[in-house]
Amino acid sequence: MVADRVKQVIPSKIRELSERAKKIENVISLGIGEPDFDTPVHIKEAAKKALDDGLTGYTENQGLFKVRKAISDRYMRLFSSDVHPQNILLTAGAYEAVYLAFMGLLNRGDEVLIPDPTFLCYENDAYMSDSVPVRFPLLEENSFRPAQDDMLEKINDKTKMLVLNYPSNPTGGVLEKSDYKMISDICEDHDLYLLSDDTYEEIVYDGYKPDCFLNYYDKTIITNSFSKNYAMTGWRVGFVVAEKEMLTPMLRIHQYAVSCLNTPALEGTYAALTSSQDCVHTMVKEYERRRNLIVAGLNKLPGVNCINPKGTFYCFANITKTGMTSREFSDFMLDNAKVVVVPGDAFGDRGEGFIRCSFATDYKKIEEALIRMENALKSI
Ligand SMILES: Cc1ncc(COP(=O)(O)O)c(C=O)c1O
Repeated sequence: MVADRVKQVIPSKIRELSERAKKIENVISLGIGEPDFDTPVHIKEAAKKALDDGLTGYTENQGLFKVRKAISDRYMRLFSSDVHPQNILLTAGAYEAVYLAFMGLLNRGDEVLIPDPTFLCYENDAYMSDSVPVRFPLLEENSFRPAQDDMLEKINDKTKMLVLNYPSNPTGGVLEKSDYKMISDICEDHDLYLLSDDTYEEIVYDGYKPDCFLNYYDKTIITNSFSKNYAMTGWRVGFVVAEKEMLTPMLRIHQYAVSCLNTPALEGTYAALTSSQDCVHTMVKEYERRRNLIVAGLNKLPGVNCINPKGTFYCFANITKTGMTSREFSDFMLDNAKVVVVPGDAFGDRGEGFIRCSFATDYKKIEEALIRMENALKSI
């Protein structure tokens, strides 16, 4: 019944956990990968106005030009990168953007280097595109940044693409300035596509400023999204940036799979991009306050160590000293503290020994979750 390419696609372990948690009363979820903020009012108003103005028809396959132009201006503003609107394709979230890159650029048997641990979609997109995911480790002692030798070791004649996601889901790790050149050089030397999923690039702390691979390497494909920075997960707007030769095959798939995006959502996105960015800064400031709370709290738990994430709204805590596996720890917390944390192995084998905690959750709830977890661990 099922097509071969879908057989290996793994159902999300995070959803499975959320389903279990729903059946328990008074649960606090640190599992969720979604802002708890509502979309800012001016963005919603722009979408409502679009409906009232009758903007309800199809738009260009590649995406409403004015939104692409606003994205191009954003790249100039943030990274001094000269991105032409022609090199931008609007997609149904970063999910579709990543999927198109795999489907449009890889052939059966091509190998793709994917970090371990990392967000779940890359490996599954490899299966759907008949390419082969090859994992390389991201180690805690290296702040979950990729090490040159770990990547080089996995490269052979079949390797076609390297995938990275920084700031990283699930680790909260970021790249250092020197990493951009080191990674670009590897890709150039081995003629690889470099897919950089920059979904969390605006959710960063401690004054950290990410750089952009577009400034380093021509065969870069950027996937990005408005889901997290503007709290617009349900609007489904994201995009790809790439040179024409790479974007054209992606557009071909997009035009028959999706055709174009939801017009009111695009008007809302336009308002998001062209209005004051204070709403983003306010949300990021609040995430930072919560991060400080949760990291300090986790580090006080017996057997738990957590490095300070510099980006995203996740922290990835090492729980090996508790003597439990990630699964055991996550089950233990759900059963004894009514707190949802995601077992690290959901993101790859190298995630074993860790748990991911999201702080896209109310400050008071995080406080309560930490107390409950401490009590549960002390009662063993
Ligand atoms: C790293 C990463 N990339 C992409 C996505 C997908 O986001 P979108 O809502 O834009 O499809 C997510 C969502 O959690 C994510 O964490």
